[in-house]
Amino acid sequence: MKIIKKIKVDLGDRSYPIIIGNGIYGNKNLYRNSNPKNSILVSTKKIKNLKNSSIPKRFYNSEILIGDGENFKNLNSCESIYKNLLKNKYSRDCCLLAYGGGVIGDITGYVAATYLRGVNFIQVPTTLLSMVDSSVGGKTGVNHSLGKNMIGAFYQPQSVIIDLDSLKTLPKKQFNAGMAEVIKYGVIYDKQFFEWLEKNKKKIISLDRVSLAKIIATSCKIKAEIVAKDEKESGIRAILNLGHTFGHAIEKNIGYGRWTHGAAVACGMVIASELSEKLGKLSKNDLSRIKNLLSYFDLPIKLPKKLNASKLYEAMKNDKKVLNNKIRLIIPKKIGECFISDKFSKSTILKTLEINRDQ
Ligand SMILES: NC(=O)c1ccc[n+]([C@@H]2O[C@H](COP(=O)([O-])OP(=O)(O)OC[C@H]3O[C@@H](n4cnc5c(N)ncnc54)[C@H](O)[C@@H]3O)[C@@H](O)[C@H]2O)c1
Ligand SMILES: [Zn+2]
Repeated sequence: MKIIKKIKVDLGDRSYPIIIGNGIYGNKNLYRNSNPKNSILVSTKKIKNLKNSSIPKRFYNSEILIGDGENFKNLNSCESIYKNLLKNKYSRDCCLLAYGGGVIGDITGYVAATYLRGVNFIQVPTTLLSMVDSSVGGKTGVNHSLGKNMIGAFYQPQSVIIDLDSLKTLPKKQFNAGMAEVIKYGVIYDKQFFEWLEKNKKKIISLDRVSLAKIIATSCKIKAEIVAKDEKESGIRAILNLGHTFGHAIEKNIGYGRWTHGAAVACGMVIASELSEKLGKLSKNDLSRIKNLLSYFDLPIKLPKKLNASKLYEAMKNDKKVLNNKIRLIIPKKIGECFISDKFSKSTILKTLEINRDQ
């Protein structure tokens, strides 16, 4: 049992720690502001049956298992959790332990935000994506039949517990999806981190513990720093969406679930970078470094041939981040720096989409 790193998300009286280590689930000090008698584990049968370390039973009183995957990220799952909590008379001082990937974290966080007007919850992320992204920052929520992540709340956890051992069972495709978000942090915010990723990519892909701890800690640190500056996304937090407006349009057009979210974001990041290069901002060298690093982790850098540029453009216009009918994009200026702009004509965007399609 070893704690390797600790990071603080600095949000005044809602600050909380992110603890990263190996085999750390047995450390009772990590379950901040929770009482085992009043704690409920929320997870899925699949995650609970994984052959890796899991949260010891002595830290919770009961468990609620819901269906696995994005299809279950809806109000029906919330309803089944509310019902269970109410039937068992859990009071305001209960604590939910969200044990799983981003789907479990988002659902559990939303239930915690709304059950009895708010109870404590702890994030215990088990996928790389949830470790470096969704468990930090307090965005919680579920999908609606009319749109993804349309119902939700900003609600911060009491702590985030990241056990690297849980990555041992994660399929490569899911790991690579998480790497897209890791690489994103380097592109938008931290040139040295990007360089470090380039130099250490072999170690990362072979799940070297020290390298994993480094990429997760740095990603969490960057996200925590940005969230501390702008918790509710009225300004700088938007840069975390690099590649996402394109990515969401790709996910929608290709059919949800065909590509991982990370794959769609990777391709979106490349398109935003190409756009920047065409505008004379990003250098050719930086563009190819971004493409090379994403490709190393088997992430797509071209749109599938069958995707129609006009349909993608329409989907981009319907993104929930669109303001006054203008598409706002995050554009890398150079590795480690980016800017936000809505000054792109439809034809420029369409042309860039065409260029980036598999021929
Ligand atoms: N709240 C935020 O800020 C934020 C940010 C990014 C993404 N998200 C959300 O996160 C979700 C995606 O999260 P995800 O990629 O973790 O998907 P996920 O939660 O669906 O997990 C993917 C699959 O991996 C399985 N799994 C989980 N841990 C495992 C492990 N250790 N070993 C083997 N299998 C494991 C899960 O059971 C599931 O089948 C999306 O709904 C997205 O909207 C939220
Ligand atoms: Zn994302």
